[in-house]
Amino acid sequence: MKKIAVLTSGGDAPGMNACIRAVVRKAQKEGIAVVGIKRGYQGLIDGNFVPLDYHSVSNIIQKGGTILKSARSTDFMEKEGRNKAFEFIQKQGIEALVVIGGDGTFTGAKIFEEEFGLPIMGAPGTIDNDLYGTDATIGYDTALNTIVSAVDKIRDTADSHNRLFFVEVMGKDVGFIALRSGIAIGAEAVLVPETETNIEAIANMLHNRTKDTSAIIIVAEGDEAGGAFEVAKKVKLQFDGYDTRVSILGHLQRGGSPSAFDRVLASELGVACVDALLSGKSGSMAGVQGKQVVLTPFGKAVKHHKALNPVLVTLLDVLA
Ligand code: F6P
Repeated sequence: MKKIAVLTSGGDAPGMNACIRAVVRKAQKEGIAVVGIKRGYQGLIDGNFVPLDYHSVSNIIQKGGTILKSARSTDFMEKEGRNKAFEFIQKQGIEALVVIGGDGTFTGAKIFEEEFGLPIMGAPGTIDNDLYGTDATIGYDTALNTIVSAVDKIRDTADSHNRLFFVEVMGKDVGFIALRSGIAIGAEAVLVPETETNIEAIANMLHNRTKDTSAIIIVAEGDEAGGAFEVAKKVKLQFDGYDTRVSILGHLQRGGSPSAFDRVLASELGVACVDALLSGKSGSMAGVQGKQVVLTPFGKAVKHHKALNPVLVTLLDVLA
C-alpha cells in the first residue's frame, strides 16, 4: 500500500484531530503517503484535498474541531456523487480510506466500500457515543466534561435563587450524554429518548422537595416529551412551585480542546485503522472494548444501537 486518504465527516467531535494525526504518523512510519480530504465525502466529490505529512499534523492533538473540516454531504448519498468520488480516488492513486465520524459516516462508508471494493476503515468520532462496538466514541468524554463544567455554573446561580432549571443537552436519538452528565452534575431528573417521560412523576418529585433549594433537570434534545422549553411548559402546568429557567447548551458541547481520555482513544484508534488496512481488513469500525481494540463491521456498528447502561439508569433514581 503506497497511498491512503483520511477524512472527517458528520458532526465534528473533539479528538478528531488527534485521530488524523495518528493515522498520518502511523502511515508515514509504514512508508505510506496520506492525503487529507477536506469537508468529508463532499471533498472526494469536489477533489478538495491536502497532502499530509509528519509535520502537517504537529500541534493539532490539543485542538478541537477538525483541521480537515467536516460536512454532511447530500451529493454522496446519490450514486452519481459516489461515482465522481471514486473517479477522484482512482485519479489520485488512493488505495484505501480512513473515515472518522459517526452513524452517517459509516453508513456512507459501507455503501461506498460495497460498490467499488475500496478498502475502508472507520474510527468512531462523535460526541453522541451511540455506536455499537466501542465503549466510548472519540469526543464523548470531552463533551461530558464541557457539560459538567457548564452545569456546575448553572447550579451556582440556580441555588442562589432556589430556581428550577431545565438544561437541554445534545442527543437527538440517544440519551448517553444526558444520562452520564446527569449523574455527574447531581441532576434531580434526566429525560432521555430511550425511556418514557412521566411529566406527572416529575411534578410530584418537585412538589415533594425541600423548598429552600434548587433543582436541575437534564433533557436530551430528542426526548419524546419535547426539548427543554417544551418539557418546562408541561411540568409547569402540573406544578408551578419553582421559579423556572431553561438553558440550551447547544453546540458549545461539540467544541473545545479534547480531554486526555479522548486524545489517547483517538490516537489508539487512528493507529488501529491503519494497522487493520495493512493486514487486509476493511469495512469495519475500530473501537475499544475494555482494553482491547475490536473491529466491528460498519453495518453492525450503526444498526445495533447500544442500550443505555441499566446500572446507571438505576443509579439516577437512587441518587436524585
Ligand atoms: O451527531 C452529533 C450531534 O452533535 C447530535 O448530538 C446533534 O443532534 C447533532 O449532531 C447536531 O447537528 P448539527 O451540528 O448539524 O446541527
